[in-house]
Amino acid sequence: MDLKARLADELDAARRRSIALLEPVPEPELVRQHSPLMSPLAWDLAHVGNYEDLWLVRAVGGDAVGATYDHLYDAFRNPRADRPSLPLLGPAEARAYLASVRGRALDHLERAELDPESPLLDRGFVYGMVVQHEHQHDETMLATLQLMEGRGYRPVPAPMPPGPPRAGSGPALSEEVVVDGGPFTMGTDDEAWAYDNERPAHVVDLAPFRIDAHPTTNAAFTEFVEAGGYHERRWWSDAGWAWRTEAGLEHPQFWTAQGAGSWSRVRFGWHEDLPADEPVQHVCWYEADAYARWRGKRLPTEAEWEKAASWDPATGTKRRYPWGDGPPSDGQANLGQVRFGPAPVGSFPAGASPWGCQQMVGDVWEWTASDFRPHPGFRAFPYREYSEVFWGPAHKVLRGGSWATSPSAVRTTFRNWDLPVRRQIFAGVRCARDL
Ligand code: AVJ
Ligand code: FE
Repeated sequence: MDLKARLADELDAARRRSIALLEPVPEPELVRQHSPLMSPLAWDLAHVGNYEDLWLVRAVGGDAVGATYDHLYDAFRNPRADRPSLPLLGPAEARAYLASVRGRALDHLERAELDPESPLLDRGFVYGMVVQHEHQHDETMLATLQLMEGRGYRPVPAPMPPGPPRAGSGPALSEEVVVDGGPFTMGTDDEAWAYDNERPAHVVDLAPFRIDAHPTTNAAFTEFVEAGGYHERRWWSDAGWAWRTEAGLEHPQFWTAQGAGSWSRVRFGWHEDLPADEPVQHVCWYEADAYARWRGKRLPTEAEWEKAASWDPATGTKRRYPWGDGPPSDGQANLGQVRFGPAPVGSFPAGASPWGCQQMVGDVWEWTASDFRPHPGFRAFPYREYSEVFWGPAHKVLRGGSWATSPSAVRTTFRNWDLPVRRQIFAGVRCARDL
């Protein structure tokens, strides 16, 4: 398929996803703010259209700026707390706005010359940026829908659709793998849709380390909870303990104790037994860090994570995904909001990295030890507010994508970040330790 047709398909797939996600949500639930952490869903929706307007209609197409909604939907001009009180487009108006922007964006795509000399257009970069942006907001909207705990919205029939069969091969669930020391290439120069923060490629020399072959399961994390880990100061960083105490954290978000060591959880409004062998999710960085310390381990650095996920020591080359360069297929990863939750660990031996790490892409975002900082030689592109304004110790890096992440918006170089207190995101923990 030619590039323009592929870009149009990707735009269409992202839009169908957004529309389908919100279609069953009653109108009053789309306009109210469900959590101070999140935008009204109707804001996310129109913001996605406004971003496309900005980049695919005005920047690429050169259309004159008429009446725009920039003042309402610019994320920097409008902090989350203010968004509910803005004179926002209603859901029907927002859908119409998205459709009209899309019509103009496709007209421009048809005429565009995807000039390899233009950093914005080379291999469709700016279209990829807009596609990924919409998918990222879809994941954000899923977090909002989960925070609603099902009020007016149950996107999944309970119980979870069955996962792929657990294959008998691969490392045992508690196993660690060893990643050799030595240099590897971190980041990328040639990935067409890579964000500025993934660039440039650069060599990083690491000491050898061990890393868990699987993400931490609910069962393993329950051991920490039941051993009193949330009440023992020594497992927590200073900031983590202060936050644990202030916020009254006792266990991952959306869990409920049923007594006698049994736990349930709420998933999009459905109450279910906590599945023992699924990766734990809805833990903040402080909880992930404390858990790792309790296990006698630590969080991997971002560089360790990327080497374990992408570096092929046999060939000295980097892989776009842990299993290779080809797009995820069945049996390799749980992505794309198919299951509305993580899959049991061990479900994807065919998705293992060269070192034997499974489920590094998909299922749950994995907290790393690292602050969000630029790769050496970083240049902001095409705008400072995507990455640059977030550099620094306030944000921790997450890697690998979750079950809610689109395959089009993740790869082994992809970097996500959030505050260490956030746990509404679909994030879990994989431990590492020195050799
Ligand atoms: C990369 C997920 C942290 O949601 O703030 C959306 C993505 N950037 N709109 C975010 C993003 C602009 C970003 N994260
Ligand atoms: Fe955005």
